[in-house]
Amino acid sequence: MIVTLDGPAGSGKSTTARALAKKLGALYLDTGAMYRAVTLKAIQGGVEPTDRERLEKISSEISIDFRETNDDQLVLVDGVDRTLDIRRPEVEKAVSAVSSHAGVRERMVALQRKIASSHPKVVVEGRDTGSVVFPNADYKFYLSASPEVRAARRGRQNEERGTKSGDVIGEINKRDAMDSGRAVSPLVVPPGGVELDNSNLSLDETIQKIIDSLV
Ligand code: DC
Repeated sequence: MIVTLDGPAGSGKSTTARALAKKLGALYLDTGAMYRAVTLKAIQGGVEPTDRERLEKISSEISIDFRETNDDQLVLVDGVDRTLDIRRPEVEKAVSAVSSHAGVRERMVALQRKIASSHPKVVVEGRDTGSVVFPNADYKFYLSASPEVRAARRGRQNEERGTKSGDVIGEINKRDAMDSGRAVSPLVVPPGGVELDNSNLSLDETIQKIIDSLV
């Protein structure tokens, strides 16, 4: 069974997807973390977000693994725990541009399908998981919330992780515009997807709404 959750930054996708996966006994697949991992590796190697060729090379060579802990999921990039590093502001700034390259996306999508194929139940979260990666998913959702609510959530998340916040609302608006306006796999409500505005819903209420619509 595949459940996809798409939506903009701060729409509650990650928290919802993680909790939903736990409830369903499913694998939680965070596709944004994968684009962040490529971006981090590019930054570390001095590769510009416009350098398509070198970014494609990084995407082909990178190894990305997820490891479950009791209350979190670690992201291992080339075998090293980069869970916190991929949330750094410099990654946040460059990730939209990096993820806009078709060649980068092709490689990440292949990796996402491969990871999902070895698990009976998967909750996958991102921007194009219902529209492009798993168009035949059993259930597709599109989470949204007002920009203010999303910025507040992202700020809190950064605080909890001890990462610096910067201009959260400005960054979110910029990233939304890039993610929705790009030529390749833009952020859209997937065909057949259920839209869920959770501005005024708690995490439990959001999860309950999703679970209620799984038959
Ligand atoms: O969900 P997130 O904030 O971790 O995602 C980081 C960036 O990765 C986001 O700005 C766009 C990109 N992304 C994408 O293009 N496609 C996905 N399926 C997931 C994320």
